[in-house]
Amino acid sequence: MNKIVVKIEKSGNRFNAWDVDGKKWTSEIGTATRKNAFNAGMALERREGKGGRIYWWKVPMSEFETTSVPEFDMSSVDVPTDHAEVLNFIHNSYTLKPKGLVMKELKWKYLIRSAVRGKNLLMTGPAGCGKTMAAKSLVNSLDRPDFYFNLGATQDPRSSLIGNTHFDKKKGTYFSESLFVKAIRTPNAVILLDELSRAHPDAWNILMTVLDSGQRYLRLDEADGAETVKVADGVTFIATANIGNEYTSTRVMDKALMDRFTIVEMDVLNDEEEHGLLTYMFPHVDSELLKAVAEISHLTRTESKSDAGKISSGISTRTSVEMAGLMFDGFGLDEAAEVTVYPQYSDDGGVDSERTFIKQLVQKYISDGSSDDLFNEDEIEESNNVGA
Ligand SMILES: Nc1ncnc2c1ncn2[C@@H]1O[C@H](COP(=O)(O)OP(=O)(O)OP(=O)(O)O)[C@@H](O)[C@H]1O
Ligand SMILES: [Mg+2]
Repeated sequence: MNKIVVKIEKSGNRFNAWDVDGKKWTSEIGTATRKNAFNAGMALERREGKGGRIYWWKVPMSEFETTSVPEFDMSSVDVPTDHAEVLNFIHNSYTLKPKGLVMKELKWKYLIRSAVRGKNLLMTGPAGCGKTMAAKSLVNSLDRPDFYFNLGATQDPRSSLIGNTHFDKKKGTYFSESLFVKAIRTPNAVILLDELSRAHPDAWNILMTVLDSGQRYLRLDEADGAETVKVADGVTFIATANIGNEYTSTRVMDKALMDRFTIVEMDVLNDEEEHGLLTYMFPHVDSELLKAVAEISHLTRTESKSDAGKISSGISTRTSVEMAGLMFDGFGLDEAAEVTVYPQYSDDGGVDSERTFIKQLVQKYISDGSSDDLFNEDEIEESNNVGA
């Protein structure tokens, strides 16, 4: 590997690490190390210690300059400099994705690209598949002022999105604007609208003009000619929505509202990816047990998608992570399933109920304590094909 030397730049209260190619290394270097190098006016070099451990060593700033090699040859390629920078940022951005978030490189780069290009983003997918996690990770990677709103928890959209009118003896009637108004007035802000699909329809109406690229304003009052607030330049919205799944509590979102977004569908993890995630999160839990959790979850997902499926929904990654956490704390697979999984399935219909189906599935993994030979190759093959 080529020598990597980074220079620290202060931006707000952050210390970012950039190499000469404009690639950001901030997330790989501890905050104290970065701050320290910045204050000393020194660069940091990436080194490998015993056993492959990576550490960053302070080196004179001149080291940073000597590693300079232009990434693009501007004389031969007609790319504007700023475009080259954007390209670099997008295509090197996979290093910004936190290791604990499982997401394919293309999807992640598409997210970064859409945000960089100022698109409104809507992450869709079933419950517990990582929509909020991905949206938050994206916001963290962008190094811009950020604001978080959980619209699913908002009872009174008008006061949370616009503000409140108050009365004070001295001041008389006055208006105090909401944090959301402050957010849209902030140039280059990244505004996370979590659980947009669960928001009150009034919230959707208020957001309609805000999100429309041809309008981009918020009206403070219904009245004609009422004051409006302009959405500042460079503001990006990132929303999440629980759509395309079985949850009826989620109101169906308005088509016109959906149209205002670039939609990014979150992929539900397959058994291998999920096993990888659980192993990464809980390296001390027996890998075979984690494999059983991943397989059970995966099988419920394929079963729920098949036409003749005996269950209406699959186990989410959130639930798999919960199960693995219980095992880390010494609970058995059966116990973990009993408290986290079974309650999600109805026991209506007795032996034909969804709960009976799940119990039998889990039981197969418990009987001999391992997942071996529980499903023969054909069965697994068959389940992988369903709904694919
Ligand atoms: N793709 C993923 N990569 C890593 N962890 C994941 C992933 N999907 C889910 N998880 C785990 O599940 C938990 C819940 O994920 P998250 O809150 O992002 O789901 P969500 O899609 O926003 O769900 P909801 O629809 O209920 O809001 C996370 O904290 C994480 O532990
Ligand atoms: Mg969420």
